[in-house]
Parts: sequence; C-alpha cells; structure tokens
Amino acid sequence: MELSARINKFKQERNAVILAHNYQRPEVQDSADFVGDSLGLSLAASRTGAKVIVFCGVNFMAETAAIISPDKLVLMPDPNAGCPMADMITVEKLKELKVGYPGRPVVCYVNSGAAVKAESDICCTSANAVGVVRSLPDKEIIFIPDKFLGQFVQNKLPEKKLILFNGYCPTHARILPEHVARAKAAHPGAPVLVHPECRPATIAAADAALSTEGMARFVKESPAGEFLIGTETGMIYRLQKENPGKKFYPVTELAGCPNMKLTTLEKVLWSLAELKTEIKVSKEIADKARAAIARMLEVGRQD
Ligand code: 13P
Ligand code: SF4
Repeated sequence: MELSARINKFKQERNAVILAHNYQRPEVQDSADFVGDSLGLSLAASRTGAKVIVFCGVNFMAETAAIISPDKLVLMPDPNAGCPMADMITVEKLKELKVGYPGRPVVCYVNSGAAVKAESDICCTSANAVGVVRSLPDKEIIFIPDKFLGQFVQNKLPEKKLILFNGYCPTHARILPEHVARAKAAHPGAPVLVHPECRPATIAAADAALSTEGMARFVKESPAGEFLIGTETGMIYRLQKENPGKKFYPVTELAGCPNMKLTTLEKVLWSLAELKTEIKVSKEIADKARAAIARMLEVGRQD
C-alpha cells in the first residue's frame, strides 16, 4: 500500500486529524486535513472533533495545540523540530525584562515556549500582532521575542511605545533589501509580499507584510499574475497549488527553515502508527498559557 493510503487508514482508525503549517514539505501538506498559518492552526486545533492531532510544524505550534486542547493527544512526527527564535527567550529573561519595566503588559508572539506564554498577558501571531497591541489600553507594552515583528507593529501604531526583546527569526533575517531589489528587477511589476518577521528595511522595500495566510488571501484576490514571496520558501508550494494560473518566485532561495523540513511523510505515518511523540505541557503552565492564548483568539485575525 502507498504511504498516503497507509496514513489515511491509520488516521481513520485513530480518529486523528493532520494539521500542517504552510512551510511544510509539499507531500506533508498534501497529506494534511488542514494547512495554514499559526493562527489558523491554533483555531483548527481548538475546533476539531478528532481525538488525536498530528501536528506537522514546529514545537511551539504543537505545544499551543496541546494547551488549547488538553483532552486531545497531540503528536509531533519529529519532536526535534524547534524554533530558534522561540528558544531565544526564556522565563528568566522575561522576568528580568519585567523587573526593568514594572506594570507593563506583556504581548508574547506565539513563537515562544509554553512557560514564556504562561508569564505573558496576551499572545499574538503575525496575523494579529497589530490588533492585539491596539486592543490593550496601555501606552507602554513589552513585546517579545521578535524585535522585527515588534518594530513592524511599532511603525503601525506610533501612539504606543513598545519595549522590545532582542529576538529574531534566522530564516527571515536572511531576506535582505538587496534581494528584494534584485527580484523586482527580474520581475518588474510583480507585487512583493514579505513576512513581518523580516528586517524593517526588507519590509520597507516590499509592497505588503503579511502572515502566511494573509499572503494566501492577498494572492487569491489580486489581479496580478506574478508575485515575489519573501518568506520561508515552502510557502510557494501552497500558493502555486491554489493558484495554478499565477507565477510565484522566492525573493531569495536562502530563506529555508531547516526545522520546518524535519517532518517527512514517513515520520507522519510512524507518528500515527505508534501514537508518538506526545507533546505535553504541565497543567500549571498550560492553565496560565491558555489564558494568554484565549485572549488572543478573542481578537481574531487582522490581516
Ligand atoms: P505564520 O503564523 O505567519 O504562519 O508564521 C509562522 C512562522 O513561524 C513564521 O516564521
Ligand atoms: Fe521559527 Fe523562523 Fe522557522 Fe518560523 S521560519 S519556525 S520563526 S525559525
């Protein structure tokens, strides 16, 4: 039997659903019941009636699913898939920052560990960071861990004063303004869409900064026939699949996230067959983190 047929058979037997991030390998995306961005995946995890969630993405995303759905079995086909940006901030570093700026609320990008979320007031994703910050009555707000996303929000909301942490995504930091300029010269007139995790100068050179789901929507609604995509290169697969008549070019081929590529179809099958590897969050941390995630879900999608 073919791999995908075996996956489907196990999926039914286990009452499982497969969730995959937009950066996953093409064959993994094709095996999934839902493909989306961090926010979409959190919502899908909260809404599914399945007993088992096989999460194809990185660790913080699976942890978020486990926090939202404590009664479900959340599995990662490869639990080594982490996020270097999420690892840049620790609870200790956050506590230090809070001591320096007492009383300021903490907005925590979901690209962070469960314990860091538990120490935060509200979470956000790239799809709603501006809306989440705007929803707070305070002027001064601690924003962790992505300094580039924080700067993007700051530029959109000059009335706020964001206190930033020195975290960033190594994959998106590789997308430079000169790459945008070169790509534009090669494809004049093609809109340039970048992720808000990119450097401020890269965002300034682009036409729009959007979450991965925001990009998928923009492309569908745009009359343009060609697009330059400044995010993890796996995104191109979904855009091309959904828009066969349009053309997509990465701003640079350098923007690969090795962690996102650790999940393979073979590992998805193994995960379903063996019901491994379970992602668990302690009840104490999960209860606090869930409150920060729930506040974010109330704000919803903004881009
Ligand atoms: P999105 O939420 O926009 O999919 O981004 C997640 C991520 O890890 C970006 O690097
Ligand atoms: Fe983390 Fe960047 Fe990879 Fe997204 S692309 S999972 S932020 S390292």
